[in-house]
Amino acid sequence: MAPVCVLVGAMGAGKTSTGTELADLLGVEFRDTDAEIERVAGKPIPEIFVDDGEDHFRALERDTVAGALAEFGGVLALGGGAILAPQTRAALAGHPVVYLSVEFADAMKRVGLGAGRPLLAINPRATLKHLLDQRRPLYQEVATLTVVTDGRTPQEVAAEIAGALKAG
Ligand code: S3P
Repeated sequence: MAPVCVLVGAMGAGKTSTGTELADLLGVEFRDTDAEIERVAGKPIPEIFVDDGEDHFRALERDTVAGALAEFGGVLALGGGAILAPQTRAALAGHPVVYLSVEFADAMKRVGLGAGRPLLAINPRATLKHLLDQRRPLYQEVATLTVVTDGRTPQEVAAEIAGALKAG
């Protein structure tokens, strides 16, 4: 089995909310790799960063994404930094990968003070801006479709993706 759709994009792109809507529209399950990592680790992501470090989180993330790409047949959302791993970018080849693009203003509004997102614990505005600029080319590299999310609801974005998937 393979995902019917993989969602990538930065923090604040709306991967979880859009993915939930999209899975409903398509009548399939939704899975979020962040939630899966938390389930396996038995603790929230900020605690994994504090107790074990970001490298450990990234290793869990690589394994979780690889596992889901191999056996999960629904809509899969990846954490914003998952595409940093070359293995993950390679593993995404051949899958329908939708890049939910978001510009700084909307991303900032959606993440707020960054609660639950350890990378934004210090200086969230500058950090988010830097991450968006640094990662944009990586999202573009893995994407088979890019959907703009700025100023749009998760329902609108999900409907566009569902239409594109059905059109093949
Ligand atoms: C991260 C994004 C988060 C989560 C972790 C690291 C990142 O996921 O995986 O805090 O490096 O951008 P979301 O994009 O779902 O917030």
